[in-house]
This record gives sequence, C-alpha cells and structure tokens, in this order.
Amino acid sequence: MPKLAVLISGRGSNLGALIAAQQAGVLGGVIALVVSNKAEAGGLKLAQKAGIRTEVLEHKNFSSRELFDATLIELLDANRIDTVILAGFMRILSPDFVAHFPDQLINIHPSLLPAFPGLHTHTAALDAGCQFHGCSVHYVTAELDQGPIIAQAVVPVLPEDTPEALAARVLLEEHRIFPQAVRWHCEGKLRIVGMRVHVGE
Ligand code: GRF
Repeated sequence: MPKLAVLISGRGSNLGALIAAQQAGVLGGVIALVVSNKAEAGGLKLAQKAGIRTEVLEHKNFSSRELFDATLIELLDANRIDTVILAGFMRILSPDFVAHFPDQLINIHPSLLPAFPGLHTHTAALDAGCQFHGCSVHYVTAELDQGPIIAQAVVPVLPEDTPEALAARVLLEEHRIFPQAVRWHCEGKLRIVGMRVHVGE
C-alpha cells in the first residue's frame, strides 16, 4: 500500500474523513505522517488520536519558501512517503516541491475548478450569482489550484445562503469525494492524459 502524508493547516475535517476511510479499510493507502505548518492546527489532535505520527513545520521559522519546501521534502523523503495529500494546507508549494512528487500530489479545493481558484471561494460563488457550486479533487501542478481534476461534486446554491451555509454544504461533499479520489489513486486506477484523468480498472 502506498505511504501517504497529509499536509494540513487547520481544523482537519478532511483529514478526519481520510482517517475514517483508512479505519474502514477503504482508503487504499496508509497515512504514515501528518504535517502541519501551524502548531495550533486542530487536525494534529485528530491524527494523534488515531495513532498517526505528526510533525509541525512552522513556515514562520523559515527565511524563504524554498527553504521551507526543501525541509518539508527532507521530512517526507525520510518517511519514505509515496503520495502527498493537501487537506486544507494553506501554503503555496514551490515548483521544486511539485517537481519532486510528479503525479503524486493531490489537493482538495472548495470550488468547481477552474472557477474560483484561491481563497474565499464560497463568497465568490455567491457574488457571481452561481446556482451551483461544489468542490474538486485534483493533481497539483506548479500553477495554483490548477491541474488534472480527479473528482468533483456539485451542490445547489440556495436563495438564503450565506458563505458559511454554502461552505458547510460543500464540506460534506469534500468528505465524500476526497477519500474516494485518494483510493482510486492508491489503487492505480487513475491515468492522466493531458488535463483529463481517466478512471479505470
Ligand atoms: C476545506 O474547505 C478545503 O477544501 C480547503 O480548506 C478547507 C479545509 O478544511 N482547501 P479542513 O481543515 O479539512 O476542515
């Protein structure tokens, strides 16, 4: 089974969904390490409760993005990590980092990409008058929130929605499609052809 590292910055509800899938025997890989760039990230406790090794690498202690990323690569390599899962990791990774894990870097983003890359996606979807919104799991390339899309889920935008209400509806879908996409990847079912990802046997 592939060894996975999950990178987080915050509460870690997506990490929780991945841990639940692992415990149910349906993740297809083993979460060997959880790394946070913030010491106070709630997700660290979830990992520890599940008996998963955690590391904190605070970016504020590094003089440059390149130095932080190089240290992160060392940590991941020392743990023989095959695939890196970004689960609410609020740092842009340098091209060198991305190149170190070719086709082995997966992110969840709370919008229907390529719409609304970056932050504040739920507010952006409401401001744009979208009637549908959602989330995307995708392979990471050097461009922010781009890269071949593995899975998406769609939710309706309701007339009275606030960004928070919409975010909560999307989050439920994130928790559903993220473990599924990681499982396909781990089981070798995904084939990347240009920007498209084919799911096969
Ligand atoms: C999620 O909405 C994820 O899509 C985005 O950041 C949020 C992280 O939430 N990248 P959590 O830490 O997994 O609860």
